[in-house]
Amino acid sequence: MTASPFRSAVVPAAGLGTRFLPTTKTVPKELLPVVDTPGIELVAAEAAEAGAEQLLIVTSPGKDAVAAHFADSSELERTLAARGKEKLVAKVRRAHELLDVRTVTQDEPLGLGHAIGCVRGALADDEQAFAVLLPDDLVLPTGVLTRMAQVREEFGGSVLCAFDIPREEISAYGVFDVTDTEDPDVKRVHGMVEKPAADDAPSTFAAAGRYLLDVAVFDAIDRITPGAGGELQITDAIALLISEGHPVHVVVHRGGRHDLGNPGSYVRAFVDFALEHPDYGPELRAWLTARLSD
Ligand code: UTP
Repeated sequence: MTASPFRSAVVPAAGLGTRFLPTTKTVPKELLPVVDTPGIELVAAEAAEAGAEQLLIVTSPGKDAVAAHFADSSELERTLAARGKEKLVAKVRRAHELLDVRTVTQDEPLGLGHAIGCVRGALADDEQAFAVLLPDDLVLPTGVLTRMAQVREEFGGSVLCAFDIPREEISAYGVFDVTDTEDPDVKRVHGMVEKPAADDAPSTFAAAGRYLLDVAVFDAIDRITPGAGGELQITDAIALLISEGHPVHVVVHRGGRHDLGNPGSYVRAFVDFALEHPDYGPELRAWLTARLSD
């Protein structure tokens, strides 16, 4: 693909974040820092790098701080500049400069499928596909969206992202039922099973929080009924599209991943990023080594 394959990147951020209570009573989980940067800024940077021009953040009433993070911060920048803190000015400005940010409100957390359905009116008439990035899923290194766009160019339809997971761990994931294409890292999807027993899993390819969806998904979202947890599930909408012949492929991403959505794996992400940080890494490494040998 040559030109930007999609213009809009959707970041659903209207969930309740229950696994992070009590913090998420007042602090949106998308703003929790990975070292010093909110997870949603890392995901916005990934979208911008892939060529997205606009970020559509789906928020809920009361989560205004998420959009505020991307707003103009010239007053703070002026204060920092007056104090000679140019490095901090650049850090503060980054979120605002990455891409255009708009918000769409999901009044009630009726599920990821419902949240994605809320952005329909925010896309231009000529946008045929859009990206979705779950802000609590860091897919590393970045770049998979560009690969997914190439796959859409080749096969049409919608493209998802998968990780190849050891079979003994597969029952924690949504797992794709696939057949091969000529490219070992691109599979055609026939269905998906949520959290199967290891022996029943149709493959070892587990879903990750990156989607490149054809706008046909909106009509499918309108036609599904609430599934697991009483929520409108995006996987049900995709399953409906597959049953109607819409091509769906996955790109198998050979890289790392961090789940920022629950405290246990969030801590791992934080430590992993901190260990790589030039200011904090060496001291943290020494402290961790000593701490672990206690
Ligand atoms: P999650 O289930 O991981 O997030 O949804 P959550 O519901 O906020 O967290 P828990 O499970 O209660 O701890 C994945 C993504 O989809 C968004 C969430 O904000 C998260 O980024 N989401 C989920 C919505 O935007 N709307 C919804 O109705 C549900």
